Amino acid sequence: MSAHTPVCELLGIEHPIVCAPLAADPRLPAAVSNAGALGTTELWWMDDAGAVVRETAALTDRPFGGNFALNSDQRRRVDQALSAGLRIVSLFEGDPQGYVEVVHDAGGLVMHTVSSAEEARRAVGCGVDVIVAQGWEAGGHVPGRVATLPLVPAVVDAVAPIPVIAAGGIGDARGVVAVLALGAQAAWLGTRFLLANEMPIHEEYRRLLVDAAETDAEWYANLYEVGWPDSQSVALAKRSQPVQPLRPLWSHCRSQRSQTCGD
Ligand SMILES: Cc1cc2nc3c(=O)[nH]c(=O)nc-3n(C[C@H](O)[C@H](O)[C@H](O)COP(=O)(O)O)c2cc1C
Repeated sequence: MSAHTPVCELLGIEHPIVCAPLAADPRLPAAVSNAGALGTTELWWMDDAGAVVRETAALTDRPFGGNFALNSDQRRRVDQALSAGLRIVSLFEGDPQGYVEVVHDAGGLVMHTVSSAEEARRAVGCGVDVIVAQGWEAGGHVPGRVATLPLVPAVVDAVAPIPVIAAGGIGDARGVVAVLALGAQAAWLGTRFLLANEMPIHEEYRRLLVDAAETDAEWYANLYEVGWPDSQSVALAKRSQPVQPLRPLWSHCRSQRSQTCGD
């Protein structure tokens, strides 16, 4: 099994690994891209998406991606990012129709995150270049209810020959090899990269992640107040410290702040 897959050629990377968009901070995506994988940055909630693209490009001359949540109109931010030179656009939580053409016109390519084979077929029908199949083990916002193991082959079969990248519950090289065996062409990791030195998280958060057992992640129907209702999420939960009562206190910016300040 070759670890250098066709999607590596398409994305301009050496290793079949993508670091998920975890923050709007250039350090981690730049470090990942410099190491030969693909770094991505969140671009969907700040005033000037172009500024984050320029900051990231100043730290790496390799490809990196920018991510947009389509639960609100992102056209202004996508334009800002493309004008700043972004060429790999990652979309999630919404309909990619209306974004693909502008990215292709700029010479870029579109990755779209899905949680079912049907959603993947629709995205490919819109012209999406790469599908990210996100199993419901994934950390963060998780709209689907299908696990990575059955989801990935179903999506691979549904959209072949469009490349599929697998996300959700992949934590080490064994997981990467497993999803390549399922037909994915790369692995998309989020939680594992929170532990990277370049990710600005609070030491207490880091400690909780390192100490977590496989039973400590929980699915919430509506955990955060981040600007869209019923946003389903998977988050770390210690039984002694239920997170549900914190929900009214958390906007997206506050939850980013809680990552960095432990506040
Ligand atoms: C802290 C955190 C923030 C995330 N933010 C985003 C985001 O803004 N956009 C997105 O498409 N996915 C986001 N995700 C989900 C990841 O893209 C990915 O699907 C998930 O982390 C994969 O599962 P894993 O955490 O088990 O590796 C986030 C995940 C985490 C853990």
